[in-house]
Amino acid sequence: MTSTAAGFAAAGRRRRKLASYAVLLTALVVLGVTYAVLAPRGHAASTAEESFAVQKGRELFQTSCATCHGINAQGTQEAPSLIGVGAAAVDFQVSSGRMPLARPGPQADRKEAKYDRAQIDQMAAYVASLAPGPQIPQVDLADGDLQLGGNLFRTNCASCHNFAGSGGALTYGKYAPRLTPATPVQVAEAIRTGPENMPVFGPSTFDDHQVNSIVKYVDYVTRSKNPGGLALGKFGPVPEGLVIAVVGIPALLAMTLWIGARA
Ligand code: HEC
Ligand code: HEC
Repeated sequence: MTSTAAGFAAAGRRRRKLASYAVLLTALVVLGVTYAVLAPRGHAASTAEESFAVQKGRELFQTSCATCHGINAQGTQEAPSLIGVGAAAVDFQVSSGRMPLARPGPQADRKEAKYDRAQIDQMAAYVASLAPGPQIPQVDLADGDLQLGGNLFRTNCASCHNFAGSGGALTYGKYAPRLTPATPVQVAEAIRTGPENMPVFGPSTFDDHQVNSIVKYVDYVTRSKNPGGLALGKFGPVPEGLVIAVVGIPALLAMTLWIGARA
């Protein structure tokens, strides 16, 4: 009697064990199917594309940039390390034609860009893969506030670039360039990466709204027509005063003399 009871009990335990295995199995299958359905698609493909870009970027870098910046972008006597400068610095320097540097001098000049969009993106991806750094900024001009941008520009940028963005000389043969040729993205990149003597204005100085506002102001002031007539190079009050002194006052004098002579 007791042995049959024990037999039933053992069979029951086995059945319960089997049942719990079945539940576990079903749960795993359900989990797997749910993951397959909900998992973000194309993830594997995009990382593959990214590493392809990094690989292509490394090849381009080694042929055109490594002589100065070092085989692993670590820097040499000729040029600074690019580890941590981010995609934004590469995009700014190469899309504005400053890099690759043609010849050493006090400053890298803006030139015709030597690489196309895809190649620039690849080199930027390579440098960004070395260490984290500023990303290529997403500019949203619609988000910018022109008046705020104007105020920020006059207090932070005009001392070097002039209030109308027409540029100015600095010391040691360096200069702050005219901002007209810069695209909105390049303006934001210059703000974020601070090329050459220009200070870096990071996210703790300007948030994205402030950057959008400055970019909007630069776009406005460098592309606006001159409603007041001749702009005289927008160099400000000194040339304007000079033109008044050299042209305006003699003209008035001549007119007075002429009127006096007739009277
Ligand atoms: C003839 C030497 C030379 C070559 C070639 C060259 N560079 Fe440079 N690069 C420099 C020097 C010098 C500087 C620093 C002075 C400056 O910024 O004007 C610099 C600065 C930079 C900066 C700015 C770093 C920062 O701190 O913001 C970036 C980015 C850069 N180079 C990328 C490149 C890339 C990408 C290439 C290849 C397409 C390249 N350079 C080729 C000499 C060179
Ligand atoms: C201390 C002087 C200084 C200040 C302040 C300064 N910049 Fe610059 N800026 C420079 C210099 C120098 C360069 C040229 C860098 C180079 O040639 O590599 C430059 C380059 C630029 C460029 C690139 C133009 C081109 O030819 O592609 C832009 C855009 C720019 N600055 C915007 C700004 C803005 C916006 C501010 C204010 C938030 C600002 N800068 C503040 C000195 C300055």
